[in-house]
Amino acid sequence: MSNDQVIIFDTTLRDGEQSPGAAMTKDEKVRIAKSLEMLKVDVIEAGFAIASPGDFDAVKSIAETIKDSTVCSLSRALPKDIDAAAQALKPAAQGRIHTFIATSPLHMKHKLCMTPDQVLEQAIASVKQARNLIDDVEFSCEDAGRSDIDFMCRVIEAVIDAGARTINIPDTVGYALPHQYGNMIAQLIERVPNSDKAIFSVHCHNDLGLAVANSLSAVVNGARQVECTINGLGERAGNASLEEIVMAIRTRQDDLNVETGINTQHIVPTSRLVSGITGFPVQPNKAIVGANAFAHESGIHQDGVLKNRETYEIMKAEDVGWNTNRLTLGKLSGRSAFKSRMEELGITFADRDELTEAFNRFKILADKKSEIFDDDLQALVSDVRSSNE
Ligand code: KIV
Ligand code: ZN
Repeated sequence: MSNDQVIIFDTTLRDGEQSPGAAMTKDEKVRIAKSLEMLKVDVIEAGFAIASPGDFDAVKSIAETIKDSTVCSLSRALPKDIDAAAQALKPAAQGRIHTFIATSPLHMKHKLCMTPDQVLEQAIASVKQARNLIDDVEFSCEDAGRSDIDFMCRVIEAVIDAGARTINIPDTVGYALPHQYGNMIAQLIERVPNSDKAIFSVHCHNDLGLAVANSLSAVVNGARQVECTINGLGERAGNASLEEIVMAIRTRQDDLNVETGINTQHIVPTSRLVSGITGFPVQPNKAIVGANAFAHESGIHQDGVLKNRETYEIMKAEDVGWNTNRLTLGKLSGRSAFKSRMEELGITFADRDELTEAFNRFKILADKKSEIFDDDLQALVSDVRSSNE
C-alpha cells in the first residue's frame, strides 16, 4: 500500500519572521524562498501582504521568482487584506490566499468583540471573496486549540461550502497536548459532513515544547498538511520545526504510513541560510540541524559507531546535508575512536606501546580541554616520538 503524502507548508517567511528580531529584507526573503524551493516544500507562506509595503513587495517578488512551490500570502478575513494578498500573488505560477479569523470564545469576545454568528458570517464572506480572486484558498480557525468543537464544525462546514480547499487548525498559543489535539483533528474530520472536500492542516506553536509532537499526533489522526518553519523559528517559543517533522516522518515511515516530498539533503544548507540571515544561532543540541546532532562523545558510543553506525544513529547525517557524522575527541573517548582519528590524520603507531603512551597522554590532555582538535593530536604524537628518541 502506498503512503499518503503530507503537504509541507513552510511559514518561515511569515510566522518565522514574527520572532522578535528576525525581520528580513525583501532580498533575504527571496534567497530563503529559493532555498525552500530547492528543498521542495509544497507551499511557501511568503508573508502577510497587507502588513506593510515591504511585505507586499516581498510576497510579489517571491511570487515572480518561485515556480515549483505554491506561494501563499496570509490575510485576515477582511476585504482589504484579501485584495492585497490577491494583488501580490498575481505573478505566481501557483498562488494561495490563506485567510483566518479567531474562533475561540476568548478571542471572539475580547479581541474581535464579535458574536460567534458574526464570526461565521465573516469567515464565509472572506472565503467567497478569496475564491473569486484565486482558486487555492486556505482557511484557519485561529486559536482552534481553545475553540469549541461544535462551533468549529459549523464554521468549517460553511467555509468548505464557500470554496476553501485547505482547513487549518492552529494551536495558536501552544496549549494543546498531543492526545487531545490528535483527537480534535479526528473528530473534526469525522463530524464535518463535507470534510472529504478539503485537506486538514495543522499549525502548532511551541510554548510547551510540544509543537512537533502535536503535529505528528494530528498526522496520525488524518491531517495531511503540516505548517512549520526552518529551525522552529516563530512567534514566542516558535513553530513546529520543519526538519524535525520531515525527518520524523521519514525515519518512522513504516509506523506513520505517510511521506513528504522534501529533498532532505538540502535541510542543513537551508537551516544555515536562515540562521545566517536572521542572526538566530542554532543550539548545538538541536535535533537534525544542531552541530552535535550527529556527534558522538562517549567512548562506548564511539566504539559502537565505528563498528556499525546504526548502533547509535537512527538517521544518516549525509541524508540531511551534513558531510558525515562526527566523533568528537574528549575525556570520554575510547582507544578505538582515538586510533581511528589518528589513522584519518595519516598517523600510524610503531607498536602497541607507542599507541598506549599516546593514548595516555591524550587522556591527560582531555582532562584539561573540553575538545581535542587535530592540531592537538599532531603535537601530542610529536611529543611522544621526541621523548622516545
Ligand atoms: O498561530 C496562528 O494561529 C497563525 C494563524 C494566522 C494561522 O499563525
Ligand atoms: Zn502561528
